[in-house]
Amino acid sequence: MRINSFLLPIMICAISSGAFSQSTATLRVQADSVQQTISKDIYGMFSEHLGRDIYDGFWVGKNSAIPNKDGIRLDIVKALKAINVPLMRWPGGCFADQYHWMDGIGPKDKRPQTVNSSWGGVTEDNYFGTHEFMELCDLIGCQAYIAGNVGSGTVKEMSQWVEYLNSPLKSSITDLRKQNGRDKPWHVPFWGVGNESWGCGGNMTPEEYVDFYRRYATFCHDYPGAHLNKIASGPNGNDTHWMDVLMKNIPHNLMWGVSVHYYTIPTGNWGHKGSATQFGEDQYFGTLKRALEMNKVIEDEAAVMDKYDPAKKIAMAVDEWGVWTDVEPGTNPAFLYQQNSLRDALAAASTLNIFNNHSDRVRMGNLAQTVNVLQSLVLTKGAKMVLTPTYYVFGMYKVHQDAKLLPIKLSSPDYILGNDHLPAVNASASIDSTGAIHISLVNIDPSKTITIHTSFEGKNWSKVTGTILTSEKFNDYNSFENPNKIKVAKFSNAKKEKDELVVNLPPKSLVVLELK
Ligand code: AHR
Repeated sequence: MRINSFLLPIMICAISSGAFSQSTATLRVQADSVQQTISKDIYGMFSEHLGRDIYDGFWVGKNSAIPNKDGIRLDIVKALKAINVPLMRWPGGCFADQYHWMDGIGPKDKRPQTVNSSWGGVTEDNYFGTHEFMELCDLIGCQAYIAGNVGSGTVKEMSQWVEYLNSPLKSSITDLRKQNGRDKPWHVPFWGVGNESWGCGGNMTPEEYVDFYRRYATFCHDYPGAHLNKIASGPNGNDTHWMDVLMKNIPHNLMWGVSVHYYTIPTGNWGHKGSATQFGEDQYFGTLKRALEMNKVIEDEAAVMDKYDPAKKIAMAVDEWGVWTDVEPGTNPAFLYQQNSLRDALAAASTLNIFNNHSDRVRMGNLAQTVNVLQSLVLTKGAKMVLTPTYYVFGMYKVHQDAKLLPIKLSSPDYILGNDHLPAVNASASIDSTGAIHISLVNIDPSKTITIHTSFEGKNWSKVTGTILTSEKFNDYNSFENPNKIKVAKFSNAKKEKDELVVNLPPKSLVVLELK
């Protein structure tokens, strides 16, 4: 059993003894102790030139019969706008460190054909480049986060890309931008200095990467009206040594944040990750267990960051996360196309609760990846589009974007499988600018309803409304044949009893409540 001090912003205590098989939980929401803003950017996305994320995903081309704007598919744009996607990371991933941005500007028929050696050796026609990505962000209404090429690019190349995007000053580079149809700079706010530099981004040691970072970051300038938030390529999971070397040796004025990548592999075995839809309770449990380990990854890395930056000025950007399964049978293994079940929605909802509760340090998150790759929000097949259960989680949780975190103290029964156990319930709470409180609750126990008794300190409320996402089976999913199998429904099992909020949280469900 672990109980954190009530003075801390995150106060989750789980009764972890298997001897207690309670079906009730208690929650205290300290509305009189409003904390930091939960950055909307925690709800960001990641899209890479990988499989069918960009090509045959976002990008269908101008001449497609699928409704599009300048080649960008409009049904996807509409879906992402509806859930307030705040931020998009691009062009990779591993692809970022092989991408040369000048290949993707100018008339399309003059753009070189290259090979995507990161993902399947397919021919990249470079039709989707800088202008197309920036147009996509404009259409969605989100900010751009571009990952620059450290692995195989030069300092000059990266520096000129920033100039092309952000400079209002006259130069050959900005003239080129104008010649290509864009007069004004875009003001890209976030800039990744490489990606996974410990792996596909160059197989560097942290000491080598620090040297690269200092040089590249120095020449990625701010331009008038365009401050650039630079993000260092951080550790793989909870490799704290990598984080330590970066935090110690990179001048803090050169870095807005450090990235962290953590993927949830259902079996824990990269060689056989497990099917996205054909699994039993063992893999269901294993997936949730590994997803919840995000809490430890963040706390381990944050402890190192605290050592060098106790004021928490440097952000942790979890800019790749999500469930990573085996590909769908019969699809290209290099394309990473997977389905997405209720289990994955519960994993995403639990992860977002973890991010919210650590939003003093975690100020960015990017789900991998938005369309047709890994734990997507959207799957496409020709003109058809399916919204995944994970999509609905982001829609339900958008109420936390830029709201203030409220500390909680949660006492949860365990979800027990064999000799192992996990806290059945996880949660986070926030208060928005209108004074409405939102509580997101997840019950990962696949068979027990859990009654949650919630008390509030410092807040009177009279009305509760809510929405729920659940399904009959934890491996249910939305298919092209049955696209609405899982969708958000109204939740009416939350009531005010005296001063308490009493919620009956069904098995394998997530609920978001609004209190006014
Ligand atoms: O998201 C797929 C890949 O996973 C990314 O390209 C890479 O950064 C990570 O290893």
